[in-house]
Amino acid sequence: MSKKLTVAVVGATGAVGREMLKTLHDRNFPASQVLAFASARSEGAKVPFGDKEIVVHELKEDVFNGVDLAIFSAGGATSLKFSPHAAHAGCVVVDNSAAWRMDERCPLVVPEVNAHALEGHKGIIANPNCSTIQMVVALKPIHDAVTIKRIVVSTYQAVSGTGQKGIMELEQQVRDMFNGRDPECKTYPYRIAFNILPHIDIFLDNDYTKEEMKMVNETVKIFEDPSVKVTATCARVPVFYCHSESVNIETEKKMTAKEARILLSQAPGVRVFDNPRELMYPMPGYCVGEDATFVGRIREDESIDNGLNMWIVADNVRKGAALNAVQIAEELLKRDLVRVTDRNVFLQ
Ligand code: A2P
Repeated sequence: MSKKLTVAVVGATGAVGREMLKTLHDRNFPASQVLAFASARSEGAKVPFGDKEIVVHELKEDVFNGVDLAIFSAGGATSLKFSPHAAHAGCVVVDNSAAWRMDERCPLVVPEVNAHALEGHKGIIANPNCSTIQMVVALKPIHDAVTIKRIVVSTYQAVSGTGQKGIMELEQQVRDMFNGRDPECKTYPYRIAFNILPHIDIFLDNDYTKEEMKMVNETVKIFEDPSVKVTATCARVPVFYCHSESVNIETEKKMTAKEARILLSQAPGVRVFDNPRELMYPMPGYCVGEDATFVGRIREDESIDNGLNMWIVADNVRKGAALNAVQIAEELLKRDLVRVTDRNVFLQ
């Protein structure tokens, strides 16, 4: 990585945006300049970058001239509006929102799983949903080895997945309840403190939530295999950071729990943390700030011939968002793909 880039973080004041700045700094990303953008509300605010601070500017359509790479985490509407202008200015976008994920023009990438999909990108690359990322990191090696036919996943997702406002809502509600006040619900439809909401994102016509269908559709796109059947139930739990997932898979060929442990212990981005006798299993409280996707509770599903159960935990703000986006940027650089070949694709 010899070339130094001008890099922009869009949504720099948010929970993920801040983690993106931290990740760029901590991984020593080769940037000659790092710029921070957010809404007009944040004009002039400062955000940390290593031991320095960067001044935040209002995002406008013309800020991308001279920017090589922009990492967006400012919601779908902002991304839909501004990413095409970035690409038009010759700036490659890595976008953390759901806006472009299922767009056929945009690769949907988890570098450990399908980095090759970056080849031939058209200027906007999508970062998958946080729950999808950690699941595919753990399941791709198994799919390659014994072909997964069906995935049944239930998630236990942290409030940071909703951004800064989710974190603040849980904090405030816990305070209110300990002080005998009625907790106010602003971000979620019901109290999240000491509660579980089987509801993430909006409900769709099929009675699944959008979050659940993201897991279904994104997994198929990333695996490039429509034969993999996925069904999901997504729940929000009163945890600040790290999503947990109970995952059941049915495979074409048999894989024992022992074989799965060996395979996953060699898989990129995975850490097997699995020894029931020693009470070793991944938990959100212990995975915060970690880069790896943790897998434990690996056992054979005794109700079918070829099935496995496992428990997958990762830091949703890190591997589920900021780290994955920065890893995509690193991979683009490694493959000499930080360029937009046709600047008008997304403006048409
Ligand atoms: P701001 O702080 O100025 O509202 P989170 O997901 O943690 O809520 O963060 C969302 C991020 O997206 C924040 O940095 C927020 O900036 C930014 N954002 C929201 N709306 C816009 C917009 N219209 N233009 C630019 N940035 C936006």
